[in-house]
Amino acid sequence: MAEFVVAIDGPAASGKGTLARLIAAHYGLRHLDTGLTYRAVAKALLDAGQPLDDEAAAEQAARSLDLSAMDRGVLADHAIGEAASKVAVMPAARRALVDRQREFAAHGTGAVLDGRDIGTVVLPGAPVKLYVTASAKVRAARRYHEILARGGTADEAEILADILKRDERDSTRADSPMKPAEDAHLLDTSEMDIETAFRAARAIIDKTLADRKET
Ligand code: DC
Repeated sequence: MAEFVVAIDGPAASGKGTLARLIAAHYGLRHLDTGLTYRAVAKALLDAGQPLDDEAAAEQAARSLDLSAMDRGVLADHAIGEAASKVAVMPAARRALVDRQREFAAHGTGAVLDGRDIGTVVLPGAPVKLYVTASAKVRAARRYHEILARGGTADEAEILADILKRDERDSTRADSPMKPAEDAHLLDTSEMDIETAFRAARAIIDKTLADRKET
């Protein structure tokens, strides 16, 4: 494993992605949003007209994925997120993506990876693990306001229903369900703005770095 790895997990719209980007910039670490890897595989299947439960095609797409060419703007699409959650239940697709994610973490002097199973499966030895949550209601409101801010329209109740459905699929799947690692620091951002959450995360990371220096 690389010099210093921060593993960040949590449900959709918990703030983990923004937090991961801020942490990576602050500590000079590379960042991989592993949700994008599942989204990119889902998009490859959709583009090729292949069914989302074609495990061999998903594995192939995962093994040939170019991590540096993933376009967040395109992959952020809501329908691709739904499709990604279906791709994510297939063990062969997961194994292939986990290999790619571990390769990413192993190079260079350190990295931040965010997703659903980073602390539990991808990098169980990561020195810092954060599990970022917020109530489903708060997460739905955040998504809703993000969409409005981009000039779009949305139905907040529908977003909440989608978030609950996605949480259920991600946390009950047999392979690598979304859950906090036993040694993860829980960060509930329901009542926090991003600056407060970032400060709390920094305090946890700085303490881990200081403890490491002492040993
Ligand atoms: O974080 P996101 O919305 O971009 O993730 C899209 C889907 O990918 C999510 O519903 C579950 C899946 N996923 C996963 O199973 N494991 C990860 N490490 C990251 C994402």
